[in-house]
Amino acid sequence: CGIVGYIGKRDVAPLLLEGLQRLEYRGYDSAGIAVGGKSGLKTVKAKGRVRGLDDKLPKRFAGTSGIAHTRWATHGAPNDENAHPHLDAEGRVAIVHNGIIDNASELRAKLTADGVEFASETDSEVLAHLIGRDPADTLEEKVRHALRLVEGTYGIAVLHAGFPDRIVVARNGSPVVLGIGEKEMFVSSDVAALVSHTRQVVTLDDGEMATVKADDYRTYTTEGSHTSASPTTVEWEAESYDMGGHDTYMHKEISEQADAVDRVLRGRIDDRFATVHLGGLNLDAREARGVRRVKILGCGSAYHAGQIGAQMIEELARIPADAEPASEFRYRNAVVDPETLYIAVSQSGETYDTLAAVQELKRKGARVLGVVNVVGSAIARETDGGVYVHAGPEVCVVSTKCFTNTAVAFALLALHLGRIRDLSVADGKRIIAGLRKLPGQIEEILANEDRIAELAAEYADAKSMMFVGRVRGYPVAREASLKLKEVSYVHAEAYPASELKHGPLALIEPAVPTVAIVPDDDLLEKNRATLEEIKARSGRILAVAHQEQEKADHTLLVPRNEVELDPILMGIPLQLLAYHSALALGRDIDKPRNLAKSVTVE
Ligand code: G6P
Repeated sequence: CGIVGYIGKRDVAPLLLEGLQRLEYRGYDSAGIAVGGKSGLKTVKAKGRVRGLDDKLPKRFAGTSGIAHTRWATHGAPNDENAHPHLDAEGRVAIVHNGIIDNASELRAKLTADGVEFASETDSEVLAHLIGRDPADTLEEKVRHALRLVEGTYGIAVLHAGFPDRIVVARNGSPVVLGIGEKEMFVSSDVAALVSHTRQVVTLDDGEMATVKADDYRTYTTEGSHTSASPTTVEWEAESYDMGGHDTYMHKEISEQADAVDRVLRGRIDDRFATVHLGGLNLDAREARGVRRVKILGCGSAYHAGQIGAQMIEELARIPADAEPASEFRYRNAVVDPETLYIAVSQSGETYDTLAAVQELKRKGARVLGVVNVVGSAIARETDGGVYVHAGPEVCVVSTKCFTNTAVAFALLALHLGRIRDLSVADGKRIIAGLRKLPGQIEEILANEDRIAELAAEYADAKSMMFVGRVRGYPVAREASLKLKEVSYVHAEAYPASELKHGPLALIEPAVPTVAIVPDDDLLEKNRATLEEIKARSGRILAVAHQEQEKADHTLLVPRNEVELDPILMGIPLQLLAYHSALALGRDIDKPRNLAKSVTVE
C-alpha cells in the first residue's frame, strides 16, 4: 500500500493524485483522498486504480492539506468502503494506514459495544475511531493514546478538522518519510511520491512520530520524547522514477541492466590483489574466516537471487551455503548458529517476512547482513552491514534489473569471501574479468529482443510451461518460471532437469513446452540427455544456451562468460520472453493482478 500527504499553499488534490500515481505499484485495488480545511474534511474513495479516483473527484475539491492512499487489500475486499482514508464517527478525523493491526477485532468489538458504527471491514478503521474519541487536547496526544492501544504494524498519516494546520504521522514497521519543501511539506511511505517536488527527506524510525506543518516539522518518539532527525538527500533524481520513453516500467528496467550492473561493480574491484572492496559489509577478515555456513533469506525473486548467491558462495568461497524463503525460516523455529552468517535479500528492504526473519535472528544473537536495493530501508538499517545492489528505483511489480544486480552483488560477496579464504589470485582475476564483461554481454542479449518477441508469440498458446535447469541453471529456471507466471498469468513450473523423470515428465505434451537452461558447463551432456527425454515425448523445447542445441526447437544464444557467472546472463533473455508473452496476451505488465511490489504484511 502507499501513503502520500501534503500541507502547504498549493491546491492539494492534484498533488496527491500525482503522488498516488507514483505509488500505485505498491497496491492498486482501491484508492482514496481526504482534504482538510476550516470547513472540515472532504473525502472521496474509489475501487480500482487511481485513474478511477481522479474521475470521481468533484470539481470543487479545494484544500491545502490532505492525505491519500492506494491499497493492496489484506483485511476486507477491495471496494469503496474499505478504501482509505477512514474517518471517525463524526467525520472529523481521517487516517491512512499501511500495515496490519493485529488486535483489530478485539478493539472493534469494544468500540462496537460502546455504540460505534463501523463503515468498513478494515483493521485500519479502528484507529480513526480511537483517535476521534480520545479526549486529549492535542492531536499528537490523541494519536499517541490510540497507538498505545494497538498491536501490530503501521505507517499512518492523520488529518483532523480541529487541527487544520498539521498532519501527524507515525511509524512502526511500515515506512514513513517526510519531504521537506519550501513552505510546504510532504509525507509518504515511499520517496517515489516526493522526488518530483523535493529530494530533501527525513526517514522516520520505528517508534517515531512527526508533526508536519507547512513551514515546519518536528519528530519525537511515541513516548513523547524529542528526536533529532535531519534531512538527507535522495540519491536518485526524479527522472529515474519515470518511464523514460518506454511503454512500461518493466521494459525500461530490463533495458537498463547494463548500466545497473556497471553501477554495482563500480569502485568495488581491486585489480592488484584480485579482491573486492565492500565498504558497508562490516565483517573483517578474521570474522569472515570464522564463518562456517551461510544462510540466505528472502522472498519471491529476492529468494531466487539468494539461491544463485548461495551457489556462488559455495563455489567461490567453499563455504556451505543455502537459501530459504524468509517466511518459512521465521516460522520453523530454526536453529540459529553463531558460526553461520545470515544474509537477508530484498529489493525494497521492507518485505515484512524478510524483516521479521532479520529481527528474529537478531534477537537470537546472530550476525545478519543485508543485500538490499533501497538505501536506508528497514532491512538495510536492521542488519549489521551489507551490500547495496545499486539497481536504482525499480517500479514494475516484477523484479528484473534488481534481480540481476543482486546476483552480481552476490558474485562480489562470494569473490570477497573466497579471496579471504582459498580462492587463488588467478581465479580471482578470472572472475573479475568475467564481471567486467557483463555489461557488454547484457547489451548483446538485449539486442536480440526482436527474435525473443517472435519466440514469445510462438509459445504464447502454451497451456503451461516447464522450466528446467541443473545446479547453476536451476535458480535461473525458477526465476524465469516465476516471471512468466507473474506477468503473463501463464501457468509455469520449474524443476531441476534431473528430477523431470521422477514425475513432471507426465505433463509433457505439445501444449506444454519446456524452456531448458543449457550452459556449456560440465553438465552439458546431462542437459542434452534431458532434451532427448522431452523430445521423445513430443515436447517442444526452447533452449537458452551458449551454442545451438540440436534437440531444441529453438535456441536463444547467450554469450559465454565464466561458468560461475552463467546464472547472471542466462536469465536475461527469459525476462524478455516473459515480457513479450505478457504483451502478446494483453496483460497489465507493470501491475499484474493480485500482486504488489512491496509486501509489507505477513
Ligand atoms: C513481492 C513482489 C516480488 C518480490 C517480493 C520480494 O512479492 O511482487 O516481485 O520479489 O515481493 O520483494 P523484496 O522487495 O523483498 O525484494
